[in-house]
Amino acid sequence: MNIAVAKGDGIGPEIMEAVLTIFREARVDLSYTFVDMGKWVFDKGYSNGMTPEAQQTIESLGILFKGPMETPKGKGVKSVNVTARKTWNTYANKRVFQTLHGVDTVFSKAGIPIDVTVVRENIEDTYGGIEHMLTHDVALSRRFITRPGSMQVVRYAFEMARKKNARRITCGHKANIMKITDGLFLECFYEVAKDYPDLKADDVIVDDLCMKLVTRPDLFDVVVLTNLQGDIVSDLCAGLVGGLGFAPSANIGDHICIFEAVHGTAPDITGKNIANPTALLLSGLTMLRHLGLMESAAIIENALLYTLEQGIRTGDFGDRNKLALNTTEFAQAIINNFGKIPEHGSKPILPNKPITQTIFKLEKNPLIISKEMEDEAIVGVDMFIESAEQPNDVAEKCLKHTLDLFKLVTISNRGTQVWPKGSIFTNVVNQYRCRFESVGEIPLSQVDIIELYKRLSADFKICSTELLNMWGGKKAYSLAQGQ
Ligand code: NAI
Repeated sequence: MNIAVAKGDGIGPEIMEAVLTIFREARVDLSYTFVDMGKWVFDKGYSNGMTPEAQQTIESLGILFKGPMETPKGKGVKSVNVTARKTWNTYANKRVFQTLHGVDTVFSKAGIPIDVTVVRENIEDTYGGIEHMLTHDVALSRRFITRPGSMQVVRYAFEMARKKNARRITCGHKANIMKITDGLFLECFYEVAKDYPDLKADDVIVDDLCMKLVTRPDLFDVVVLTNLQGDIVSDLCAGLVGGLGFAPSANIGDHICIFEAVHGTAPDITGKNIANPTALLLSGLTMLRHLGLMESAAIIENALLYTLEQGIRTGDFGDRNKLALNTTEFAQAIINNFGKIPEHGSKPILPNKPITQTIFKLEKNPLIISKEMEDEAIVGVDMFIESAEQPNDVAEKCLKHTLDLFKLVTISNRGTQVWPKGSIFTNVVNQYRCRFESVGEIPLSQVDIIELYKRLSADFKICSTELLNMWGGKKAYSLAQGQ
């Protein structure tokens, strides 16, 4: 099997070298095609951080093993890490956090074992990076949560939980506040849960989840979350098991998978050969198992666990009274321990069952779409306008333009209603949302909305609009705070 490897930036080449040396010494049956991705590729003028040859190689091989990559700051370019995950639709980001003996944490000292797998949605959410300044004071980020995207990641999480013999799968969310977006994710979670009656499925609001994870991490097994919340919760979990040096990740898609550590390029320790390669090695082991190389993965993992149990360490963890090894020495210590069995968590040596490498040749972009809702109707529009006037003055101008078709229902500022009722204590910024609904709930056409837009634009700069839809007799939009 041949896989694509990108060494990455910062500590990337150092830890990748360490891991590939371990693989070579363990006679892992893989060959590598090195590809050009990362900061220096941006600097050469490739705006997505990878060369066309790299993209072609990864798309034809289907597996990318990568080191961390730096996102140049302030140049307007997007993170190559995020671009890679999104471009190749690796919709599930799986991060396993386990107690490692020899890596002391408050929990290991208290005898509380941790084995939490976080599955983070990997494509959507605020990571769309769709952002605009609406006025000089107001920035907007669009947060997309989709039904097909949520179904893909949730289905993966349930399948993985079943394979792991998990006792519990938990959805972390903030659907009490983001009722439509997180509400949709949660709805998908319980829809998929129906197909897995053997698993205990429940949900916890994300702030409560964080509190519970730091007090009783042993109560959790598999946790699935939307992208940003998953990002934060998984770093929290990394802290529970000893830090970023021990946090591996797998980005799983239907065609392409990417294996990488959770941590970044660690610019503060780059070039010193002192970085901890464990997270990248654990990511590599997940990759070997994904490819069916069970025996190689078990031999290396047992050697790693044995090494950690011996108190062998790099400078970022372990007993400060013991000498810290550098990256190369640490890798060599693992190699020296091939064949040793750790006291805790040893892995059975199962035979290799290499998968057949599939070369996917797609004719068109896969369209993921669910069944359309019946009874769809436009019943209004939210017009986001720029104005530094008082709410009553904004309302007065809006009311001039409602025609017979529309009624002005509410005006809000930063999501809080300021008209027709509100509080004089609500601070306002120079951007209002004016909600117009059709008189008598008559369905509207887009032409009606355009007519209103034209009339309103005589008095205001309209920064953005959103249609108000009714689907299946239900409002497909949220109310303003206080409406
Ligand atoms: P970071 O993860 O690179 O570093 C945070 C802290 O952890 C630093 O003190 C660093 O020395 C330490 N650290 C990280 N990995 C370590 C290791 N293997 N061994 C020992 N210590 C380690 O996060 P930071 O500083 O926020 O980001 C630096 C750069 O990395 C940024 O350009 C960021 O965009 C990029 N990044 C890339 C990621 C990826 O490629 N998947 C993920 C996260 C950040």
